[in-house]
Amino acid sequence: MFSAQEIRSDFKIFSQPENEGLIYLDSAATTHRPECVIQAEADFYRKNNANPLRGLYALSIRATDDYENARSFVAKFLNASEPAEIIFTRNASESLNLVAYTLGLSEVQSGDEIVVSCMEHHSNILPWQMVCNAKGAKLVWLECDSSAEISEQEIKAKINSKTKIVAVAQVSNVFGITNPIEKIASYAHEVGNGGKGAYVVVDGAQSAPHKKIDVQALDVDFFAFSGHKLCAPMGIGALYGKKQLLEKLPPFLRGGEMIEY
Ligand SMILES: Cc1ncc(COP(=O)(O)O)c(C=O)c1O
Repeated sequence: MFSAQEIRSDFKIFSQPENEGLIYLDSAATTHRPECVIQAEADFYRKNNANPLRGLYALSIRATDDYENARSFVAKFLNASEPAEIIFTRNASESLNLVAYTLGLSEVQSGDEIVVSCMEHHSNILPWQMVCNAKGAKLVWLECDSSAEISEQEIKAKINSKTKIVAVAQVSNVFGITNPIEKIASYAHEVGNGGKGAYVVVDGAQSAPHKKIDVQALDVDFFAFSGHKLCAPMGIGALYGKKQLLEKLPPFLRGGEMIEY
């Protein structure tokens, strides 16, 4: 066990003269980084920096190994079934937008419904509003009760055969409560999309830093989170997607590493 003082001393930002006496309570917005994270990032540039996946020389191979090891680590962190189910993004917002621009714009049709909860961050509302506007679909709100909970009755009232996508935060940044993702996912898969199953997208920005995540046990189709809320460097996020769904999606960004001939 480390004392609070020992943990604090691992975050050098607190020992800088300009931050004397700093007490930081905004980790849900972004965390500070411990020394090992700053070191690991600096070490990469000092020792292994090259373009990953692009060269056959030693540096590029080491950079590729670092990159792919990080993907495997994230897959394990979420209990994904394989590293190929992890896509690196800039943050949770980009992960959610990626699903909206690919899955949303390709699968949602006029008359479909997209269900979000009343406690979503704008990053998990605006992309779905965009899809609804583009496709003539309807945005449906899962409301919560006076204890900020989404009841089973509400789930059954709002998710139905017209539901194509359900997009919900696992932990709310508004209330701090945990939503019943397993229940929502299993009901959405059972009745959504004319009984073929709606797609379930989870915003894990506030849950990944605090909970053990098991995307297979939750049985969600996509799970988005960011690094900067769990002590990783700024500017890195991840999206988990079930492999058979990722393979169906149209490309979000086009460029290197996607050409067969
Ligand atoms: C629940 C939730 N979703 C999404 C986001 C956006 O996260 P990011 O900054 O990684 O895009 C936040 C940020 O506070 C959040 O709390």
